[in-house]
Parts: sequence; C-alpha cells; structure tokens
Amino acid sequence: MKLNLLVLITTGLVFIQFQTKAQSSAWSSPPSVNSLKNPVPSDPVSVKAGKKLYEANCTPCHGNKGKGDGIAAASLSPKPADHTSQTVQKESDGALFWKLSEGHNPMPSY
Ligand code: HEC
Repeated sequence: MKLNLLVLITTGLVFIQFQTKAQSSAWSSPPSVNSLKNPVPSDPVSVKAGKKLYEANCTPCHGNKGKGDGIAAASLSPKPADHTSQTVQKESDGALFWKLSEGHNPMPSY
C-alpha cells in the first residue's frame, strides 16, 4: 500500500517535470533568417502604419501594450508572447518576420 503511493507520487513528479520542460522549450526560428534585412525604414510613417496593424490584428492576444495580456490570452496555451520582454526584444528582425509569417498554434500566420 505504502509502496504503491510512493510509486504514484514519483510518477506524478516525473510527469510534472516533463510537462514543465515541454512548456519551457522556446519557439525558435531557423538561424538562416537572422540575416534578413528589414526593407521598411523605421520612421514616423512606418511606425504609425505598424501601430495601426498591430492594434487591429495583434492586441486581442498580445494586449494593448504588447505584454501578452490581451482579452483572448487567458484561454490560450501556450500564452501569447510578451513583446516587451528581453527575449522578444533581442530577436532579430528576420526572426520576428519568420515567426509572424509562419505562426505557431494558437498564434495565426500573417
Ligand atoms: C490568437 C492569438 C494571437 C494573435 C491574434 C497574435 N498572436 Fe502572436 N503569439 C500568440 C501566441 C500564443 C504566441 C506564443 C506561441 C508559442 O510560444 O508557441 C505568440 C507569439 C508571437 C511571437 C513570437 C515571440 C518570440 O520571440 O518567440 C511574435 C513575434 C508574435 N506573436 C507576433 C504577433 C504579431 C505581430 C501579431 C499580429 C500581427 C500576433 N502575434 C497576433 C498568439 C497570438
């Protein structure tokens, strides 16, 4: 009886550890995309146009400030990325372009 309980607890712990590991595995882009150059210059016109597209398409999941806390975020797994985080801020333009072109369920492709 005691042994069965121990086996059950151990199995549970191994399972939890496996789940945590699976969730922490990051969504990575192929290294080759890092050399892609953004053809759009960063200026007030492009920033304004980007903001408009972001508000229309991305805020439901990523939130008004890009924190990953949009209205649909609560029901999603994995959670939408926090675009203000170090991890996302450090990504190359090519990697970001690749990710939003490809999508990654539940993140749609654009
Ligand atoms: C339906 C919800 C949803 C919408 C709408 C959405 N995303 Fe996402 N996005 C996600 C989720 C969920 C992830 C995390 C996916 C993962 O980690 O597997 C994500 C991840 C990302 C990432 C990856 C961040 C990183 O560095 O790993 C980028 C970039 C991104 N989204 C940009 C956008 C942009 C730009 C838009 C709008 C054009 C957008 N997303 C719209 C749900 C969404």
